[in-house]
Amino acid sequence: MMKIIFETERLILREFTLADTGLLLKLNTSPEVLRYIDEPALRNEAHALEILENIILPQYQINRGRWAIHTRKDGTFIGWCGLKFVTETQNTDLGYRLLPGQWGNGYATEAAKKCIQYGFTQLHIEEIFGKAHIDNVASIRVLEKAGMKYLGNTIEEDTVIKIYQVKNLNHDQLQS
Ligand SMILES: CC(C)(COP(=O)(O)OP(=O)(O)OC[C@H]1O[C@@H](n2cnc3c(N)ncnc32)[C@H](O)[C@@H]1OP(=O)(O)O)[C@@H](O)C(=O)NCCC(=O)NCCS
Repeated sequence: MMKIIFETERLILREFTLADTGLLLKLNTSPEVLRYIDEPALRNEAHALEILENIILPQYQINRGRWAIHTRKDGTFIGWCGLKFVTETQNTDLGYRLLPGQWGNGYATEAAKKCIQYGFTQLHIEEIFGKAHIDNVASIRVLEKAGMKYLGNTIEEDTVIKIYQVKNLNHDQLQS
């Protein structure tokens, strides 16, 4: 059963399933999509299945996840957006990837804003982080438009990465 997480004005976000290898393959073999992402292109369906099984689906068990995005208008798959729990840092990371033909419509911002809202109100996450390659202007714009604050830079694999963060104000109030 496919599980819907939430809807926005124009989009539906749902959990990926093992049947989504084709969609993931389309997204993660696009050189434009991977341009600023330190990740190899998917090799084939079996590789896509491995990523779904080992990386994407386990996040759903801990109330996090990268969720598939479809348009409400006609159900077209446009990419993913979501909240990933990063074990090394114990932080939640906001991320997104859209098929190039879908860029420039404000979809990433629309999905990102709702992910943050969902993370704060439904999942009670204390703070959410976002990271982007310093030259990835579109991604940096999305983080800013989603209301995130620039914290500073770090270096990963010899490239400069900008770090953003947004805090759950309600969570802070509850703690004090
Ligand atoms: C990042 C990405 C998700 C943005 O998706 P999108 O739906 O086009 O984003 P939005 O339309 O919501 O907003 C993009 C913003 O960046 C701006 N922008 C895009 N390309 C730009 C460029 N080359 N220079 C300056 N601004 C740019 C847009 O004008 C818009 O800002 P505005 O509303 O102030 O005009 C999409 O480009 C993508 O999938 N990239 C590949 C994957 C990726 O890099 N993901 C992020 C990894 S950190």
